[in-house]
Amino acid sequence: MKKFIALLLVLTMTLSLVACGGKATQTEQTTDPSNQQTDVSDKSGDSKTVDIGIVLPTKDEPRWIQDETRFKDALRSTEYSVEVLFSQGDSAREKQNVEALIAKGIKVLIICAHDGAAAAAAAEAAKKEGVTVIAYDRLINGTDAVDYYVTFDSVAVGEAMGQYLADRAEGKGNPLYLYAGAASDNNSFLFFEGAWNILQPKIADGTFEIKNSSEAVALQDKATLTRDEMARIIGQVTTNWDFNEAKNKAEAHLTAVGKEDKGDVFILAPNDGTARSIADTFAADPDVTSYVVTGQDAEKASVQYIIDGKQSMTVFKDVRTLVNDAINMAISVLKGNTPETTGAYNNGVIDVKAKQTDVIVVDKDNVKAALIDSGYYPASDFTGLD
Ligand code: BGC
Repeated sequence: MKKFIALLLVLTMTLSLVACGGKATQTEQTTDPSNQQTDVSDKSGDSKTVDIGIVLPTKDEPRWIQDETRFKDALRSTEYSVEVLFSQGDSAREKQNVEALIAKGIKVLIICAHDGAAAAAAAEAAKKEGVTVIAYDRLINGTDAVDYYVTFDSVAVGEAMGQYLADRAEGKGNPLYLYAGAASDNNSFLFFEGAWNILQPKIADGTFEIKNSSEAVALQDKATLTRDEMARIIGQVTTNWDFNEAKNKAEAHLTAVGKEDKGDVFILAPNDGTARSIADTFAADPDVTSYVVTGQDAEKASVQYIIDGKQSMTVFKDVRTLVNDAINMAISVLKGNTPETTGAYNNGVIDVKAKQTDVIVVDKDNVKAALIDSGYYPASDFTGLD
């Protein structure tokens, strides 16, 4: 029976790959569909050769499915063969994925690390084989094996969130609840740093009162935090980028505080998935009269939440731009040229040459113009749009 199911899975997979268009090649035999390549566009006709390998962190968050879709859209017209693999939140699997791609002869690796420190080993394995390594969205730390980094301006993401909350707080003593991303993701520090830049002066002057982190309260007079200090706060309020962990933490925080710590509240939520969990939890508390909650990624479900007034804002990171930057970089390397970069990020060992993209704040007022009229999403994906 098991064998039959496995066979069925492989068959369905192969069929769906062929259905994706172009010449599809099944190159891996595994019965676990979550680790399967999602797109193989073998333009060379040689099933063993792949020019560009792409490794994304997980299929369990809409953000990375969005990236996969945008990669597929952008790659339709290239002459190079590409394969996308998902690591499913597991660094060991991520390394196996990279090794599998190296074995297929990739010349460029575009990798969004599950864990920025653990991924150093995967980057080093690729580099050793002469592969150019492009860190995608998340920096890989502690190694000289990263050649380039394509990213959004992540400090600006955090600043936009902080500013959104600050602009809506009147008077003194507004309850503030802080949440962060996974400590294994370098971006979580950049987002938090940006938010702290804006929120700390507003905490210091009494506009906000932090309600859910003793570490943040202990550090609230410090305008600039070290990485270790941020790690102490993130350790307390991390969501681990996990919807359930976000929900459990929010529930625990609301249980721990009194009625006077609720009312009209302000919530720094690190991304859309966690924002929806946290918002639902706060909305269900009878002592919460109103809440302002941040997010990022412009995930479809959050766009609907914004239209419905259940999430206040999102930071729109146009994945099409990031995908194009990564592909253009890869193609430039494949052609023997030096990719264009606009700055650098230090990863603890080297300054990694980087190309950075700006972000846009989206709320109810501009959601239609920013995300629908711009062609990013079709209006038919949402209800209640005017
Ligand atoms: C990305 C965010 C994403 C988060 C969780 C971060 O590194 O920049 O866009 O929401 O990871 O996957």
